[in-house]
Amino acid sequence: MWDSGWDDIFRKNEWGRYPPEEVVRVVARNFFGAPRRSDVAILEIGCGTGANLWFVAREGFRASGIDGSQVAIDRARQRMAEEHLTADLRVGDVATLPYANAAFDAVLDVECLYANSLKDSRGIVREVHRVLKPGGLFFSKTFMTGTYGDGKGTRLEGEPNTYVALDEGALRKGYGLVRFSSEADVRALYEPLFDIETLDTLVRTEKNRAYEVREWLAVCRALPVPR
Ligand SMILES: C[S@@+](CC[C@H](N)C(=O)[O-])C[C@H]1O[C@@H](n2cnc3c(N)ncnc32)[C@H](O)[C@@H]1O
Repeated sequence: MWDSGWDDIFRKNEWGRYPPEEVVRVVARNFFGAPRRSDVAILEIGCGTGANLWFVAREGFRASGIDGSQVAIDRARQRMAEEHLTADLRVGDVATLPYANAAFDAVLDVECLYANSLKDSRGIVREVHRVLKPGGLFFSKTFMTGTYGDGKGTRLEGEPNTYVALDEGALRKGYGLVRFSSEADVRALYEPLFDIETLDTLVRTEKNRAYEVREWLAVCRALPVPR
């Protein structure tokens, strides 16, 4: 469920304007060779202010994005307009995706799913699968257990790796729910509906190596029939 705290975060902070290398890499590897890029439909769930979709649209793909934050979507629309780029941008909860079945070649989750409980994430992943073409690509960048802050906070009842609030770490203030994932968590969430093609990790340090931020990079393919 979308947390209205995100509106405040976007109101108070400038957000990154450029995609991380992992997004560039996964889009490049899978779609730069497409015969006609305008035929490739890419959706980002939780697109925020549109840093990733800016890249997707600029590279000539059909870009769509949805986010619960009106503030973020307004900013994304403004930037697209200023740079004469086109994207279908909508405000809404990703729990119910307002798109037809099999509408997309790819869905990107760039740190959106982690902000939802495991229970809600199961429904969101079902929606992602529904809107993807069979064999379509699902890329998920999501925080890993062991990231600084994990183990220090108030847990959501019934979900051992989900916190309603963290006491320490980069995600500690105003970010709403934070769900860390172990490898088993990632597999249990995605594998009923997807083949996990590659499951890699990204680990970086912050504050002169005072702490680590760990993330999963999951590249998945939508199964034609759920397991
Ligand atoms: C960490 S930000 C990432 C934004 C963007 N993907 C990026 O890389 O810049 C998480 C985003 O997910 C959105 N979000 C999280 N849960 C959501 C939900 N259930 N429905 C809609 N948006 C959601 C938040 O509003 C926020 O914009």
